[in-house]
Amino acid sequence: MCDIVVVGSLNADLVVQVPRFPAPGETIQGRDLATIPGGKGANQAVAAARQGADVAMVGRVGGDAFGGRLIENLKTYDVDTRHVRTDPDAATGTAVIVVDARGENSIVLSPGANGRVAPADVDAATPQLAAAKILLLQFEIPPETVRHAAALAKRKGLQVILNPAPARAVTPELFALVDILVPNETELQLLSGQPVTDTASAGKAAGALLARGVKTVIVTLGEQGALLVSHELVVHVPGQRVEVVDTTAAGDSFIGGLAAALVRGRSLEKAIAYANCAGALAVTKFGAQPSIPGADEVEALYSQTR
Ligand code: RIB
Repeated sequence: MCDIVVVGSLNADLVVQVPRFPAPGETIQGRDLATIPGGKGANQAVAAARQGADVAMVGRVGGDAFGGRLIENLKTYDVDTRHVRTDPDAATGTAVIVVDARGENSIVLSPGANGRVAPADVDAATPQLAAAKILLLQFEIPPETVRHAAALAKRKGLQVILNPAPARAVTPELFALVDILVPNETELQLLSGQPVTDTASAGKAAGALLARGVKTVIVTLGEQGALLVSHELVVHVPGQRVEVVDTTAAGDSFIGGLAAALVRGRSLEKAIAYANCAGALAVTKFGAQPSIPGADEVEALYSQTR
């Protein structure tokens, strides 16, 4: 059984907490280095699994020590890793992350094995895709593999959710294959070519993407929650105010929570409210995957909001 397939990245996050971001050319002192399982694909897989969904991951790690650790970590969350390939000719993907005292981050990615995830890797997981309801995609793997996975998923009748992060252009062909696009404000601005400064401008920019063929846009707005924009409706689903420790993987926790809630049969608006809680709770803890909350925590916060 498999509810959700994630085709995406696995990274070793090399994280240093600093009082503030350094200026160009400046050296500053941070805390001890932390090595934490991350990668947008793997984070979203963990988030959906922690919310009770059956999840399979498709991706690649390198033949180094990080690779084995990332796979073992996914297994601890019961994510099916049989289609996470170990590529002996590549290094495991790495994210060099600096987190400041306000919990904001800046991230530099070295794709490594993520840059070698191929359409054939997706084809190998056809039995999992055929059984699943939702495909989750991001932009930390090659564009041709994202497009191939979306096309195969549509042929198998899955709902395709694309998180266009890190931001890059979306082709008309891919737009037409996506059921739900989940950008943040920066990504929305880049994709639409329109300024996004508030909820009203986010609604307008998301509307421009609907005109390009995507069916539904959910704009994540941090503590302001999320904006749902489709041809039928525009709804602002308010977020939760929490104490911010580290915003890393908040969007991934949101998307995994959204997918798991949809699989459980929640309406889109309720699934977004639930996902807002999953995203908010991730912000209260340090690191990517270790910060992703379990279903009990998310349900408790969600029930307070109803
Ligand atoms: O979304 C957060 C993730 O982005 C981090 O875990 C890092 O690996 C980068 O991919």
